[in-house]
Amino acid sequence: MTGLNNNGVLDELSFKADLTLQRLRPRLEEHWRESTLDEASRRSFEHRLAEHWPLLFKLLYRLYGGRYDFFYHVEQVLLTAARAWADRSERLKKTDQMRANNPEWFLSEKIVGGAIYVDLFSENLSRLRDQVGYFKELGLTYLHLMPLFAVRPGDNDGGYAISNYRSVDPRLGTIDDLRLLAEDLHEKGILLVLDFVFNHTADDHEWAQLAQAGSREHQEFYYIFPDRTEPDRYEHTLREVFPTVRRGNFTWHDGMQQWVWTTFNNFQWDLNYSNPAVFRSMLEEMFFIANTGVDILRLDAVAFIWKRLGTNCENQPEAHALIQAFNRLARIATPGLLFKSEAIVHPDEVVQYVSSKECQISYNPTLMALLWESLATRRVSLLKQTLSHRHKLPETTSWVNYLRCHDDIGWTFDDADAAAIGVNAYDHRKFLNNFYTGQFPESFARGVPFQENLQTGDMRISGTMASLAGLEQAIDEDDEEKKELALRRMLLLHGVTLSIGGIPLLYLGEEWGMLNDYEFAKDPAKAADSRWIHRPKMKWEFLEELDDHIASGNGSIRTRIFTSMQRMIRLRKESPALAGQTMELIATSNDHVLGYVRRFEGHRLVVLANFSEHEQVIEGNKLRTAALGRFFQDELSEATFATSEPMKLQGYQVLWLKSV
Ligand code: GLC
Ligand code: GLC
Repeated sequence: MTGLNNNGVLDELSFKADLTLQRLRPRLEEHWRESTLDEASRRSFEHRLAEHWPLLFKLLYRLYGGRYDFFYHVEQVLLTAARAWADRSERLKKTDQMRANNPEWFLSEKIVGGAIYVDLFSENLSRLRDQVGYFKELGLTYLHLMPLFAVRPGDNDGGYAISNYRSVDPRLGTIDDLRLLAEDLHEKGILLVLDFVFNHTADDHEWAQLAQAGSREHQEFYYIFPDRTEPDRYEHTLREVFPTVRRGNFTWHDGMQQWVWTTFNNFQWDLNYSNPAVFRSMLEEMFFIANTGVDILRLDAVAFIWKRLGTNCENQPEAHALIQAFNRLARIATPGLLFKSEAIVHPDEVVQYVSSKECQISYNPTLMALLWESLATRRVSLLKQTLSHRHKLPETTSWVNYLRCHDDIGWTFDDADAAAIGVNAYDHRKFLNNFYTGQFPESFARGVPFQENLQTGDMRISGTMASLAGLEQAIDEDDEEKKELALRRMLLLHGVTLSIGGIPLLYLGEEWGMLNDYEFAKDPAKAADSRWIHRPKMKWEFLEELDDHIASGNGSIRTRIFTSMQRMIRLRKESPALAGQTMELIATSNDHVLGYVRRFEGHRLVVLANFSEHEQVIEGNKLRTAALGRFFQDELSEATFATSEPMKLQGYQVLWLKSV
């Protein structure tokens, strides 16, 4: 019976969807008459519209069907999409077509990413155009530029407090500079990735200003409350993202004499997506950003975009419906565009955002945290336990595997995964925080606390990759052996993220061992946010002068990191087995060694990674049975192995084995 009912409801919705589109056709025709779009281009839009309309309509109906002005907003949404397609350049339309013909294009082993802040890397966008050669030299084919739009004065959360999505921060350049850069990158085969910061605007965005001036229409763009009644009710079940900055999730606004919902900093006002005008307005901003020449939009803070009383207001079903609606609209108007999810939440929730209907790619925060976990413990059991049931993703989607980014490290593994291997999650997180802040005896790490919450005992970690992996300590102590170990730890971690399945993403600076920068503490706009410790200015002279030598004869430590990274990236791009996502763990019978097989279209590569600083041995037979071969060559060291012998891995060694 329920099946029948569901079908009935679906029929009813399909009927409504069809009828609505019929009613909107004249409006669309009118729009085409006014536009200069050619017939073929119109037809391709209409074709995609027909394909995606039923689902889009259902999503919008589910979100906004009860609103008095639903039909008006649906009409505007459709016209917004038509306008976005008309505004799309021929170059982007050509790319759209290529991607439509090859929908798996982003699963290629050739894609390797990097992320930078424009100002810290090259001052501004036009100088960045002169630095594109650097990305080529390193082998990058994907570049994430941290938020570069106009921001509020003073603290702007590293660009995440946007006051205008249609203009570039004047210190960095103009929209035209951005368009030119996008073209340069495309010519050189590099994808452009920008943020879509859609959970909140800055408190000086035009909508927020109008709200402050008393516009009721714009007050409804945000969550604004006259007194504490509602905020207190919500607060019962909310978590605090930045507890050291401000307690609670609401900010008193003196001018309006009202409370505003601010999940992050008090100057970042959460948008109210239960209002369809917000969805539509942000859709316009999204299309504008996409049409500057963006290949991938990083959807910032996806978990927080829908609020429901009595919940933690994260990962609500409507959050997914919203992203799916944005996705459908992108398929219609900017079809080559991909979404990347930034959900730094429990692994069960992270994966909910990943599908071809929602975000095709996603940060992999669980792998990130567990690689650091394994480095601290020298054991891979929690990593393996987690990978065994969490690595697999739906068809035609991909992880983005990273080690560090502009944010902190949170220990977002699953408590039950930890319990399954006999580890108490609460104690273990405590240990990891002690370890990575360097308080644990014998720790090599030099991280600092981020957002320590004394009430809950929660804490996250800031610090650069090199400082967390031991290089800062080794340089301080001028200890060559420790430098060597730090270098090997970094290459071990990269050896995994470059091979485990998904798009590897470097946080630039990693490629030459960038250390923590303590200067931020002197800047009042940054001092309260320890994430600035790992956001230093690019030190070009470090790459040229190459100090802090390792007494190995191979050159300085920075050159060695750089050339090793460069080489690993090249080897990844030459290994077709590393495309796609398929990964099978190998039972190495050694708790220090992670092992897996990668397979793609008949190609195979076996990876063994030793997380201990001591030599480890694996039975040759393990390799023979898992990798189906008797003789192997390590792509990284070029050494050869026969499975008749026990396999020896040096401390922190990673092997990429191909059968020969
Ligand atoms: C994301 C960003 C982070 C920012 C937050 C609020 O998590 O990565 O840097 O503080 O969203 O926009
Ligand atoms: C993100 C995450 C949070 C992260 C923060 C930035 O959206 O949910 O865990 O640490 O914002 O620091």
